[in-house]
Amino acid sequence: MRRKVIAGNWKMNMLPNEAIEYIQAFGPLVKDTENEVILCVPYTDLFYCLLNAQGTNIKIGAQNMHFAENGAYTGEVSGKMLKAIGVEYVIIGHSERREYFAETNETVNKKIKSALENGLKPIVCVGEKLAEREAGKAKDIITKQTELALEGLTDEQVKNIIIAYEPIWAIGTGKTATAEDANNSIKDIRTKIAELYGNDVAENVIIQYGGSVKSSNAKELFTTSDIDGGLVGGASLKPDEFSKIVNYDK
Ligand code: 13P
Repeated sequence: MRRKVIAGNWKMNMLPNEAIEYIQAFGPLVKDTENEVILCVPYTDLFYCLLNAQGTNIKIGAQNMHFAENGAYTGEVSGKMLKAIGVEYVIIGHSERREYFAETNETVNKKIKSALENGLKPIVCVGEKLAEREAGKAKDIITKQTELALEGLTDEQVKNIIIAYEPIWAIGTGKTATAEDANNSIKDIRTKIAELYGNDVAENVIIQYGGSVKSSNAKELFTTSDIDGGLVGGASLKPDEFSKIVNYDK
């Protein structure tokens, strides 16, 4: 049985004092869950979140990283730097980074490799645009993105990553993919991984759904055969609402 992994992506929200208050309120609300709980927070909140999450079951992640370990890359932060302060997870290839910050399948692949080399667990985002879905190309797009993201990784490395299937048309729009559609797309990704890395890897890799997940739809999504939890944007900004998503099975 794969575990459920539920991650919040705060995006560019939350000042340090708000982050501290959040963790103090959220920690007790999720202390009894058996699901894995992650908060992916802005760089400026990382250290405060790491300190305040000590002694809780909340894990902390970043939202991006550079693929180089160090060097003349003004404004960038490396996986080695994240690891050094105690970060465990990092989102890679979010559609907002692909769209606004020139992230490509190639940079996504390099970042995943660097994250793994530095002992971080990548949460790798894939997903199709609305026009691609309407043209019947969703399966091709998401399986290709998955293949290119994972290119050159070993079976053992692929087992240790998390994939987040986030259809772009469902992000921040209030339009959630139906549980059946999301589950089918995730099955397509899992089948592709089985083709490339074998059944054992495919059966073990965690694949989340993201896109307008909220407490009212979490249970329906997370109790399907292939959706192993969620990557949650807007609804992760309120401790009470996000705790209900984490505790969807209580
Ligand atoms: P929303 O939950 O706000 O739709 O965002 C999803 C997302 O992009 C998580 O990474």
